[in-house]
Amino acid sequence: MSILEVQHLEKHFDSTKVLNDISFSLEQGQALSIIGSSGSGKTTLLRCLNFLETPDNGTISVQGEILFDAANPQTQLESEIRKKRLHFGLVFQSFNLFPQYTALQNVTLARELMAKEHGGERKEDIEAAGRELLAQMGLADRAEHYPHQLSGGQQQRVAIARALAMHPDILCFDEPTSALDPELTGEVLRVIRNLAEQKTTMIIVTHEMAFARDVADQVIFMDGGFIVEQGNPHDVIEHPKEERTRQFLARYTEN
Ligand SMILES: Nc1ncnc2c1ncn2[C@@H]1O[C@H](COP(=O)(O)OP(=O)(O)OP(=O)(O)O)[C@@H](O)[C@H]1O
Ligand SMILES: [Mg+2]
Repeated sequence: MSILEVQHLEKHFDSTKVLNDISFSLEQGQALSIIGSSGSGKTTLLRCLNFLETPDNGTISVQGEILFDAANPQTQLESEIRKKRLHFGLVFQSFNLFPQYTALQNVTLARELMAKEHGGERKEDIEAAGRELLAQMGLADRAEHYPHQLSGGQQQRVAIARALAMHPDILCFDEPTSALDPELTGEVLRVIRNLAEQKTTMIIVTHEMAFARDVADQVIFMDGGFIVEQGNPHDVIEHPKEERTRQFLARYTEN
């Protein structure tokens, strides 16, 4: 059974169809890269998966459980959405850390709130886990720093630790390095590459073609809200079948 199964997903904004019949699946421990030009619907797709947008059609299943079915309002109850969101972690292009909290607090906040609401974990344990995650991100000595005291690459690694702290089934990245200088890009890509080596299930929207090719087990090329081509990264990126994919990739190899 696939960890994630998306079928016939569609999304309109007003009269514009932004996602058209999007279907794909993802296996446990695999990384999926999504590539495509600006406006092709990549962010909208991630937002639908994270229950930040409601698709107009289609289904989303995680580990065989239908989390969303456009035809079944029971799957769209507001009261259930928060819980369903926990299946996914989302790391944004712009980090979105809370400026008034330290790196460690950013990582532990959601788990502390959960523990307060539902009981369970002790604060010390949550903090120890948070420090451990920051250490994995190469940030052991930055735990008490505030976001404004961190570089962009460091902030993004805190954001990754924060997403991991909730143990999502699937970790989603929306252009995690596009706000960063090339140097800082490298350190964030290294962290994501390590996560892939540890078999973290991930969806990565990226413009880093070499990274998509080398790290992903599967690539999807989107254009105009459609999946134009999908398959293993070497086939799609080195030997695209579709003209539109070739045109898109040509822009990355021209210079
Ligand atoms: N909330 C919204 N209301 C109306 N239109 C929207 C909304 N969000 C996105 N769109 C439109 O949907 C289309 C897809 O946008 P989306 O952000 O998903 O593209 P993208 O592939 O992530 O692009 P980029 O590479 O620039 O981030 C665009 O035409 C965009 O203008
Ligand atoms: Mg986007």
